[in-house]
Amino acid sequence: MLPAVMLSGKRIVVGIGGGIAAFKAVELVRELGRRGAEVRVVMTPAATRFVGPVTFTGLLGRPPVVDLWDPSYAGEVHVELGDWADAMVVAPATMNVLARLAQGQANDALLATLACARGLRLLAPAMHPSMWGQPATQRNVETLRTDGWHFCGPVDGPLANGASGVGRMAEPSVIADALEAALAAHGGAIGAAQATEDLRGLRVLVTAGPTYEDLDPVRFLGNRSSGKMGFALASRARARGAEVLLVSGPVALTDPAGVTTLRVRSAREMHAAVKSEVAKGVDVVIMAAAVADYRPAEQAAEKIKKAGERALELVRNPDILAELGAERAERATAAAHDTEPRSPTPVLIGFALETTDVERYARGKLVSKRCDLIVANEARDGFAGDTNRAHLVSADGVQSLDTMSKAALADRIWDAALRLRSAAQLPTATGN
Ligand code: CTP
Repeated sequence: MLPAVMLSGKRIVVGIGGGIAAFKAVELVRELGRRGAEVRVVMTPAATRFVGPVTFTGLLGRPPVVDLWDPSYAGEVHVELGDWADAMVVAPATMNVLARLAQGQANDALLATLACARGLRLLAPAMHPSMWGQPATQRNVETLRTDGWHFCGPVDGPLANGASGVGRMAEPSVIADALEAALAAHGGAIGAAQATEDLRGLRVLVTAGPTYEDLDPVRFLGNRSSGKMGFALASRARARGAEVLLVSGPVALTDPAGVTTLRVRSAREMHAAVKSEVAKGVDVVIMAAAVADYRPAEQAAEKIKKAGERALELVRNPDILAELGAERAERATAAAHDTEPRSPTPVLIGFALETTDVERYARGKLVSKRCDLIVANEARDGFAGDTNRAHLVSADGVQSLDTMSKAALADRIWDAALRLRSAAQLPTATGN
């Protein structure tokens, strides 16, 4: 659990669109309050059909803003709220809200307030999967991302009407985590466009999840990596303007919007995918995947039948990160003899999940894999959950971070990647 004071003193406007997920906005308002935020609410008229404005009056001691023509407002309430808020979060952001925002409309209290917002703006979409899948919706999402809006979800899962698919709103605690991460990364109330542009022009590659090493058509050797850290890294990089390639092993997560996701199964498939993308030019590689070090020496074509005792012979898989580190070192050596020196790209970042001696092993991996940074954590802190506690280990020393959401940690890692790039004065791989 995150400490309850992470949003202490932050002023948050929760905007509510007209969809069935509006009932979850009640829990979001409570969650933000529990984390120390001061919350105000703006609703579309349609939202009031799903959840009563009086509910928010009861929770917050003041009525939500629904109608800009309401004579009880003294001044321009949308301008005042937009000025007041450190951040605005819209949950649910319906297909209709996304479309109107992408067009720059301001035809109700919610849209007008969003248009006046000086802090960052986070959208938590929720709609039927067929609406989310509409090319128009995807175009609108892309437009809004480009304009600097932050997104959280939608996720894959059961919907209120019994259907299932991508379109379910992220859980209130996950939305609160995403808001916290965005605010933490950008020091609070800075404009959304400015906040999200610092990776623009970079082409980055992130790996995620486990690899599965097949024994036969029905069995494999795998591990318990959920892929959440790698997906958080990919989403945050996209939100900050990077062109993102995500190479993922088998995980139960939805492809992040706006990210090119390549699904692989085995370490050798991941190796091939990473090598071919790096060859095309990449500025930063983050190996968050839990790559299997070994695979069965033989993969049976038919299901293996039981017969007495068995020993399993394993052979080594390629070490992807170590290989990238060695190749980069070779290029740097070659460049040292050139008249026109080339820079040691890409920046290489690895992870180390340990059960003991976290820092010592991480330092060892930093050297043996010749990378720039190792994000080290203990198995009990990082697996499967939505939070992580990491140590950033580089040649400069160790930075030990508090427990935080994976989205917030992702931002800290991208901040470190940017620092490493500027320290080495690297040009971009794409020449942008
Ligand atoms: N890694 C990799 N290829 C492998 C194994 C690991 O690229 N075959 C990467 C991981 O993605 C991670 C880093 O190397 O970024 C460290 O992974 P880890 O499994 O902790 O290190 P190992 O070298 O496998 O060491 P060990 O399992 O012995 O602790």
